[in-house]
Amino acid sequence: MRRDLERVLLTKEEIQSRVAQLRAQLARDYDGKDPVFLGVLKGAVPFFKDLTSEIPIRCSYDFIYASSYGAGVQSSGQVHLLKDASMELRGRHVVVVEDILDTGYTLDFLQKHLLQKKPASLRFCILLDKPKGRKVAFKADYVGFTIPNEFVVGYGLDYNEAYRNLPYVGVLKSEIYSK
Ligand code: IMP
Ligand code: MG
Repeated sequence: MRRDLERVLLTKEEIQSRVAQLRAQLARDYDGKDPVFLGVLKGAVPFFKDLTSEIPIRCSYDFIYASSYGAGVQSSGQVHLLKDASMELRGRHVVVVEDILDTGYTLDFLQKHLLQKKPASLRFCILLDKPKGRKVAFKADYVGFTIPNEFVVGYGLDYNEAYRNLPYVGVLKSEIYSK
């Protein structure tokens, strides 16, 4: 699989040390607030697991499934909610955990959707930010890394459902998606 990559952008070690920093920051900010960590399926799974396991505060886990892509490397702009949160979020401190913020369509959609549930607070924690890809304004509250506007895979991120299992994040060779 490594040969399908142009280059490794973030090594496993870089990701793990940054995720530990984010975890410590969340533990400080949410101590005593019993937050709900709401992972966005499927891309956020490895990040969600590493971010929240062993966080030394009382908290809950829930998942929501949103998809905007279809196949390919460009967002369709149409966000579909495939599975809603299953917990009651009214009055709860909710932290949405997502793999990447690109056009902003997905998180803009989720923000509007989740605010209707009247949480006590709503924040967004993302591993990767591609600010150059933005089509709608959106700023996340916690950001792991800001990256260039290239299509990346690994650590949960896919191309046509492949590469999610890589422990690092790499730039996919353009010949893979142009053929
Ligand atoms: P947005 O709606 O364009 O902001 O993008 C959010 C979703 O698009 C993410 O949850 C990813 O599933 C997908 N995505 C955006 N950029 C990439 C990328 O570089 N690689 C893989 N998936 C991406
Ligand atoms: Mg995703």
